Amino acid sequence: MQQTLFIVIDGIDGAGSTLHSKLLAGFLSLKGLKIHLTQEPSNSEIGKLLRNFLKDDKIPPSTDALLFAADRDLHYRNEIKMKLEEGYIVISDRYIESSIIYQSCQSEKITIEWVKNLNKFAGKPDLTIILDIDPKMSLARKNQKDLEKFEDISFLEQVRKLYITRAKEEGYFIINTDDIIELVQEKIQQFVLNKLKVKGIQVKE
Ligand code: TYD
Repeated sequence: MQQTLFIVIDGIDGAGSTLHSKLLAGFLSLKGLKIHLTQEPSNSEIGKLLRNFLKDDKIPPSTDALLFAADRDLHYRNEIKMKLEEGYIVISDRYIESSIIYQSCQSEKITIEWVKNLNKFAGKPDLTIILDIDPKMSLARKNQKDLEKFEDISFLEQVRKLYITRAKEEGYFIINTDDIIELVQEKIQQFVLNKLKVKGIQVKE
């Protein structure tokens, strides 16, 4: 029987967590594994509200933190936990680490401990992969008229620093995505395949 694994791909805006989550899901499916791909903000009503709030800089950071935590609580209970119990490997494009980093960078009053506490009912991932890129590079590729509230160079520099510091402290796998997509994806795949091997999860050659 397939054992499960909860994988999170997280990181700074523009580093490619959505793209690499999809590519990884496709690769693992071809290896014969049951994969469930999901993302945050989730597809719940709270998730939809959060997507609107990303365009609105009048929303207080504390409201963002509370709503992201509520969205995650539902997402974990109603989807992730269920899929893991059904034997799927779950890949989430963003998770608790996004809240810890973005919301604590939004306001000095928001501490990492408080964000962790708000999120304490959401199950921990088995594997966290942090994608890193220089925000000057990623923002240059975006349409400047269409930026969300977090897509600001100095804010993202702060976000980037905290992602790296925490990733080192927590032992997360950090990967720079300032390279050819296929090469970055291959490194992610090798890392995940090793973890699957360690867990005794069989994959097709
Ligand atoms: P995402 O849709 O991944 O951004 P994009 O597709 O534009 O790269 O994520 C939306 C934004 O929400 C992103 O700037 C990070 C932010 N975010 C938080 O601030 N806290 C959270 O808990 C999550 C999940 C995302």
